[in-house]
Amino acid sequence: MHKPVALVTGANKGIGLQIAKDLASQGFTVLIGSRNLEKGEAAAKSIGEDARAIQLDVTNQDSISAAAARIRSELGRLDVLVNNAGISHAGLPGRPLEEVGRSGRPSVASLDEIRTVFETNVFGVIAVTQAMLPLLHEVAVARIVNVSSGSSSLTLNADPANSHRVMFGAVYSPSKTALNAITLAFAIELESTGIKVNAVCPGFIATDLNNFEGTGTVQQAARHPVRLAMLGEDGPTGTFSNEKRQLPW
Ligand code: NAI
Repeated sequence: MHKPVALVTGANKGIGLQIAKDLASQGFTVLIGSRNLEKGEAAAKSIGEDARAIQLDVTNQDSISAAAARIRSELGRLDVLVNNAGISHAGLPGRPLEEVGRSGRPSVASLDEIRTVFETNVFGVIAVTQAMLPLLHEVAVARIVNVSSGSSSLTLNADPANSHRVMFGAVYSPSKTALNAITLAFAIELESTGIKVNAVCPGFIATDLNNFEGTGTVQQAARHPVRLAMLGEDGPTGTFSNEKRQLPW
């Protein structure tokens, strides 16, 4: 395999699917991580021959280990890992954003829901990254991109002038704050290896995650993660940014 290989978690739909499409058009073989293999295969088909589906539930260690073993045996390399899979709540699909915000307030938030969201958004990223690192260490240029959210910023949410901070509850936003911390921890450990690890906010995008109440498109959302996935040697590591600027942690 001479083409670089990228794995995008949760790539069967939404922003992840668009990131996978864009990486394929940049010359990568893309692996469409998907809990449901059939959905992943349909997504891969929509991209073309540069995409293949791979069963991957980021909360299931057996699934993660099997995916890493398959990448090694079938492709023999991994150059880019995009930790995109994420959930905003643990309820049924289609919950209005306002209701998710209300039930996520720290005084009433369900501990089970907080644990479920952290399991995917935080522990899942750690587990997948740990499993893929041996492969990433073997290539000359490896990049890790973690899809975070501007809503995770403690600095922005500490500002009383920020009208969006009513949405800073105990569930989704703190899970992304923890993801930012994990991003920085990996970036620090991997600094001497040249593997760059960055967190990105894709913008407020209309997807299932927010019941399609977002205002941006997946095409807009994918641009910056793809740029970070293809950073040159002089690019940064250990950053948190959106398309326009560095974001405060
Ligand atoms: P989406 O709901 O369309 O996509 C989420 C993807 O994650 C789906 O493919 C889903 O199957 C997958 N997923 C969920 N749990 C999984 C698990 N246990 N194992 C493997 N895959 C799993 O939502 P969207 O918006 O495309 O989300 C992608 C990322 O962008 C998420 O990390 C989200 O937090 C982040 N984000 C989205 C924003 C938005 O406005 N849509 C804003 C900021 C961040």
